[in-house]
Amino acid sequence: MHAVGIVAAAGSGLRLGAEMPKALVLLGGRPLVCWAVESLRAGGVADVVVAVPAPQHAAFAAVLPADVHVVVGGDTRTASVRAALAAAGEHADAPGPSAVLVHDAARPLTPPDVVARVLAALAAGALAVVPVLPVVDTTVVVGDDGVVTADVPRSTLRRVQTPQGFDRATLVAAYARVHGAAAEFTDDASVVRAAGVAVHTVAGDERARKITVAHDLLTAEREVAP
Ligand code: C5P
Repeated sequence: MHAVGIVAAAGSGLRLGAEMPKALVLLGGRPLVCWAVESLRAGGVADVVVAVPAPQHAAFAAVLPADVHVVVGGDTRTASVRAALAAAGEHADAPGPSAVLVHDAARPLTPPDVVARVLAALAAGALAVVPVLPVVDTTVVVGDDGVVTADVPRSTLRRVQTPQGFDRATLVAAYARVHGAAAEFTDDASVVRAAGVAVHTVAGDERARKITVAHDLLTAEREVAP
């Protein structure tokens, strides 16, 4: 099965407080986006397309391996993935990849095993697959006044990570369906689920957590320290 990887790296990283796009922030001396590309490759995805912010196109091209295809992303994650997906089709050797793995640049320490589990589920016939982890905290709903209004039974809840894997035609069709839709999606599995496709799960990994705030970066630095 020929899989192409898409790395969403066009976010601003405002919550991290860095003076550059989050994906260019260094971890262990290497930009986050380079770690994410390396995870995909180590897990078995050779061709990679990276969506980046337009003003930093040259900066990303300078740090990424020469064989990575760099495209300009959009104002939202959905728009960025849409742009990369279009380029992934053009980039691929005929007849095109049969699978697409979409990964966040903000998950630099994703173990290659997670990528391999996603690829294996696709090879076994899943059209969409996400890595998930259980929710370990008590989980509640809170009203505008800050008061808890409901408990949420956590046994069936899962936290969803990336890379998320898809049959390519299924993902392309699902993105075409939501074109121009007002709804904004925080991941790609939501896009295919909106098209009625069953999303399967494999085990995620705590190391694949997303770098969002400064503390996450400090923790990750400790993990990669020699
Ligand atoms: O904002 P959030 O942390 O959910 O972003 C997840 C991933 O989506 C990040 O790797 C970020 O760079 C990417 N993103 C993007 N284009 C945007 C916004 C976010 O590629 N417009």
